[in-house]
Amino acid sequence: MTRIRHLVSIDDLSLGEIRELFQHAKRFGEDLRSWSELCRGQISASLFFEPSTRTRLSFESAMQRLGGGVLTAAEMKSSSAAKGESLADTVRVVSGAYADLIVLRHPSEGAARLAAEYSLVPVVNAGDGSHEHPTQTLCDLYSLWIERGRIEGLDVVLAGDLLYSRTIHSFIYALARFGANIVCVPHRGFELPEYVLRRLREEYGAEPVRADASELGDIAQESDAVYMTPNKPHQLSLFTDSRGFRVDRVDAVYMTRPQTERYRVEGEEEGRYMQLGANEMAVGPLREAVLMHPLPRRDEISADLDDDPRSIYFKQAARGVPIRMTILAHLLGRLELSAEPPVSDARRFAVPPGSNPCPNSTCVSHTEQRHLRLSFKLTSRAPLRAACGYCSQEIPIGLVGCSTTRHFHPRDSATARKIRPDHLIFFRDEAQATALGYSAATR
Ligand code: NCD
Repeated sequence: MTRIRHLVSIDDLSLGEIRELFQHAKRFGEDLRSWSELCRGQISASLFFEPSTRTRLSFESAMQRLGGGVLTAAEMKSSSAAKGESLADTVRVVSGAYADLIVLRHPSEGAARLAAEYSLVPVVNAGDGSHEHPTQTLCDLYSLWIERGRIEGLDVVLAGDLLYSRTIHSFIYALARFGANIVCVPHRGFELPEYVLRRLREEYGAEPVRADASELGDIAQESDAVYMTPNKPHQLSLFTDSRGFRVDRVDAVYMTRPQTERYRVEGEEEGRYMQLGANEMAVGPLREAVLMHPLPRRDEISADLDDDPRSIYFKQAARGVPIRMTILAHLLGRLELSAEPPVSDARRFAVPPGSNPCPNSTCVSHTEQRHLRLSFKLTSRAPLRAACGYCSQEIPIGLVGCSTTRHFHPRDSATARKIRPDHLIFFRDEAQATALGYSAATR
């Protein structure tokens, strides 16, 4: 039996597959109305636990343009979830006989990964908390590719709330893999999360360095810009001098709104959020830059830019339809790609019952406690490091236990390093280890 393919993370597609999807999207986009036989008889189910306009409607339009049918549950909060049904059970039911594919949006990081584990049909992540939004990234990359003819070597500014924007997280992984140069201009206090930076560094070799972005004018005024070159830069296009990197020419600015619904403390947003208008876009380095936004926008892009030929945010939203047609057709087995899929992601190992080491309280491993088999990924053996199998955040490891000997060891000890991954258990401290019945190793 062939393995079901899901789109949970942008890393679930290889660069070759993404390039091929673009070619197909271009073909689909030339006449959206002539593909109505491709997915005839197939049904997709939209399970949306969070608000959405573009993502849900463009998926549903895409499915109908392919000749398929759509089941919509746009208000999942008023479904059986309100009666206490677990996400795992909902997914088992919907994937049983109701639908051939599930499009899921959920407020908890890792929800799509969990759904994929229980689903009998492909699951597409339409946004899981502040974690990832891979299909938005495909729209964004596709727009760059259409506008610029390539992604490799482009200089892309990512601005605004980089901490909680899931669109930024999926986009930055893909930009790094494609070999684009990235300049992060966060709203102060909303820098990229540590786990995203770590992944960029360790998996894609993107090393962040401070950059002088003063030539970008107002948008960079409140922020420490960080510049990231990919592992194999196609061209080091930013000007360097004795002071380091200076941002003096940009291909695209990607702006995001403050993700206020994810703020954890009242008043987390401090200071004036950046605003782009005709004046801000008039500075030298931005003269030829396209202006992107996943939408919805609030005040971070003013209406005086809407008719500017550099503003492509509405085109970006329109391109969501042909792109999502390619994703649906591909995952439903109606559009074969010749490129190889990615080599599979680091293996996941089961977390022993009774301990959930994930530090992120909005991770699905905490919000969906029933019927869950928890997992972690081993990101490094020496030093021993691990990440939550759902939300990707680093697991804080104080002590390391072996589930067969029921002994615990210091994290950096030689013994800890030798424990088989499927026997590993992580503890914050000795109190937790002893409470779970583990004792100190005698030697
Ligand atoms: C984004 C999202 O939901 O993360 N919207 C979208 O899908 N186009 C961006 C946002 O809400 O800010």
